[in-house]
Amino acid sequence: MLFRSWAQVADTRWPDVARVADHVGVEHLVVTRHALVRQVLTDPVTFRPDNALDAVTPMPVTALRVLAGHRFRLPPTLANNSGASHPEIRAIVADALHPARVAEQRPWLTALVRERVTRLSATLDAGEPVDLYAELAADLPLLVLARLVELPDAPVGAVKEFARAALELFWAPLDADRQLALATEVGRFHGVLRDFAATGGGLAARLRAAGHSPDVVVGALFFLLVAGQETTSQFLTLLLHRLAGEPAVRAGLRAGEVAVADVVEEGLRLEPPIVTWRRVAAVDTTLGGTAVPAGSSVVLWLARAGRDPATVDAPDEFRPGQRGSRRHLAFGAGAHRCVGDVLARMEAAVVVAEAAPLLDGVTVVRPPWCPDNLTFRMPDAFVVRRATDPPGFPTAPRLDVARA
Ligand code: HEM
Repeated sequence: MLFRSWAQVADTRWPDVARVADHVGVEHLVVTRHALVRQVLTDPVTFRPDNALDAVTPMPVTALRVLAGHRFRLPPTLANNSGASHPEIRAIVADALHPARVAEQRPWLTALVRERVTRLSATLDAGEPVDLYAELAADLPLLVLARLVELPDAPVGAVKEFARAALELFWAPLDADRQLALATEVGRFHGVLRDFAATGGGLAARLRAAGHSPDVVVGALFFLLVAGQETTSQFLTLLLHRLAGEPAVRAGLRAGEVAVADVVEEGLRLEPPIVTWRRVAAVDTTLGGTAVPAGSSVVLWLARAGRDPATVDAPDEFRPGQRGSRRHLAFGAGAHRCVGDVLARMEAAVVVAEAAPLLDGVTVVRPPWCPDNLTFRMPDAFVVRRATDPPGFPTAPRLDVARA
């Protein structure tokens, strides 16, 4: 269940806190209720974030050697930092992602998405399939992030490859050969980041100027390159896929009766790209009546918390604006709550507003497939094409085909 939890969110038989052993025999306490997930997230003294980036499959010596060869280190910086440096590092990153700076990117992003949508629409009109992951969602968040924090000119493909390798290396069940291959990729890119951290402008320069060590600067960039773009491109893909199966919502958008922002929130609630997030118990405690010994890995099932009937009227239905829709925990909560939420929401709003019409009258040729992963969805593709009229029925209306 741990590695394909998104496939089970609608299953109502889970206890509030479930003990689940992983593929290597480590037991995790999986928290399923909204109130309990929130309680853990907002109590960093009892439940620390220190394990946020721990590899779920312990690394064999061969992979560790490869990482060490690239001087790979992930000191506590942001998500896994319960120390005194966290607020200061977070403030510098938050400043780079300030809502005013995010808003400045909106016209540029809108123009880019509009241009792509025009091109993709022509392709669909010509009867060709379109992969909305590869051709629309995959690189947009990275392009925006690069402008906001002044990233180096690494080719988009290389960054995407590295980020996906990192998500797999740290959060997937793996065998030793795969770990070695991923460690090679992640280690190599970490070396690129190390050079950039020493000389780069923008965010890197601000972190250096505040006196943070090279390891901290690399750690912050590493996390941002993964969390700050891969998450959002995954979300855009999952949301577009969901919307392909929600013709009434698209009709509401078209008619101006459904707000784009409400669609984004309902998408975050029902299709969060980060399905779980971890904390570690700092002391012996209890949670919802379950004993939690110090050192326990606590897996917060964010996707399931979004469907808790205690917080939302129609938990499994995509109803933008419904009561409780915005109470999801897709961005976490408390001191470590996602610092890129405004950016992610802006990007998703632009894509929904501009690209939802592309989904009218399409069939899903290839729904997103997601590999086993504790935390990230990582959809690999989303291919659609215009539904064609069957031979002999030239006047048949176009179909709005439900999600595959
Ligand atoms: C739909 C897209 C996104 C989702 C669902 C998401 C979700 C999350 C979650 C669940 C956390 C952990 C929160 C906690 O521990 O309470 C987090 C942390 C974080 N996210 Fe996001 N995120 C997204 C996009 C972004 C973007 C676009 C950026 C930046 C460009 C970003 C930067 C961060 C950072 C820096 C943290 C660590 C904050 C800290 O520890 O102080 N995220 N995010």
